[in-house]
Amino acid sequence: MKINTATFIISNSDVSKCPAEKTPEYAFIGRSNVGKSSLINMLTNHKKLAKISGRPGKTQLINHFKINDKWFLVDLPGYGYAKVSKTIKKAFQSFIKDYFLQREQLVCTFVLVDSRHEPQKIDLEFMEFLGENGIPFCIIFTKADKLGSSMLNKNITKYKKGILKSWESVPTHFITSSESEMGKEDVLNFIGKINIDVADNFK
Ligand code: GTP
Ligand code: MG
Repeated sequence: MKINTATFIISNSDVSKCPAEKTPEYAFIGRSNVGKSSLINMLTNHKKLAKISGRPGKTQLINHFKINDKWFLVDLPGYGYAKVSKTIKKAFQSFIKDYFLQREQLVCTFVLVDSRHEPQKIDLEFMEFLGENGIPFCIIFTKADKLGSSMLNKNITKYKKGILKSWESVPTHFITSSESEMGKEDVLNFIGKINIDVADNFK
């Protein structure tokens, strides 16, 4: 799938204020600094559409980006970010949770995990939360450029084994790099297929 237009629409911390239109959307979630905003920029061929930073905690709101005037990419704050105050952390977590539980337009969630890391408790718990609530998700391994190909394969294999301790099968997954654009076509084509599959539900 080709991206022709990508436009920032709105940021907010309240799911009830997200765009009301009946349009399929795809959310990017994961720990702070994992590369959610960078991946949105890479997929949409922009450098500054979503705000990125080397310091965790950059994205603090629910951000809707309209793609090809047909569907949304949604950039979210990282979960489990420890360096903000407890009160802010609670507020983050509560609106992120509300977003997932209430957003009817959400057709697929991408849970981003760093290719270099072993399965982390917070990611596994979040996937469990999605599973328990019947929210479809895929895994996106990020920052693949930071590893050589054999380390990368070794880590992904290990990660999949970890996932199989709590899941019967490994969810659909993609290996990406926002630096090298690895995985770009695969993720976009996947979204393109879902858009076709769900088109009838959004008429
Ligand atoms: P929060 O908004 O804080 O939750 O973070 P985020 O998940 O949106 O991460 P962001 O895209 O802001 O990227 C965090 C840092 O990782 C930035 O310094 C990026 O340049 C870097 N980064 C993101 N993706 C990649 C990648 O694929 N390769 C490399 N080498 N660096 C990356
Ligand atoms: Mg971000």
